[in-house]
Amino acid sequence: MSDLARRAAAEAAAALAEDGMRLGLGTGRTMEMVLRALARRMREGGLRFTGVATSAATAARARALGIALEEADAPCDLALDGADEVERGSLRLIKGGGGALLREKIVAESARRFVVVAEAGKLVARLGAFALPVEVAAFGHAATARRVAALGGAPVLRLRDGEAVRTDNANLVLDCPGFAPIRDPYTLERSLRAIAGVVATGLFLLPVERALIGHADGRVEVLRP
Ligand code: 5RP
Repeated sequence: MSDLARRAAAEAAAALAEDGMRLGLGTGRTMEMVLRALARRMREGGLRFTGVATSAATAARARALGIALEEADAPCDLALDGADEVERGSLRLIKGGGGALLREKIVAESARRFVVVAEAGKLVARLGAFALPVEVAAFGHAATARRVAALGGAPVLRLRDGEAVRTDNANLVLDCPGFAPIRDPYTLERSLRAIAGVVATGLFLLPVERALIGHADGRVEVLRP
């Protein structure tokens, strides 16, 4: 993974922001670079915009950079976000490596435009090598995990320092390597969402306007679905 590749994609993403826009601000290292690039455009170019943060971490980072934030209730003009995997051709995604999948999905789904920002290492022929994150209610999570396991997900409760990771919504995350390769993401999404304890999956099957893919030589490839 190259920082130069990430930065190139991040700069291209920040360049899409226009005066007066309401921007969906995704989560992760790539988005941190986008936030920095947006803040620079604010300082140096007088760009004015408001942001909708998809996580507490992004909100804190944005505030530190002087970006004004709003609630997620109104649709964003443009949502920018990273990804853990980007499927070549379809631009279907796996997200949630940072645990912000539910808020990221709410913001991306309601946005007028959704643009993905990633480095070339995230491009795959078929989704699934990245263990699919599934956000689940803490209540009865072991029972939910058994149902996810019955679908073949081989779920593993996400831990940090020996403790179950809590999302910003106080839920838990099951990382599911068992679905690879994901040949029919729509059926998988429906099957997972039919389990009562599943709150959101990291499968992003919504329309992506374009993916900005950064390469280690600083080039940015623009992919459309
Ligand atoms: C967080 C996400 C991130 O977009 C994804 O994990 C990519 O992060 P990074 O830019 O750090 O590689 O889905 O929930």
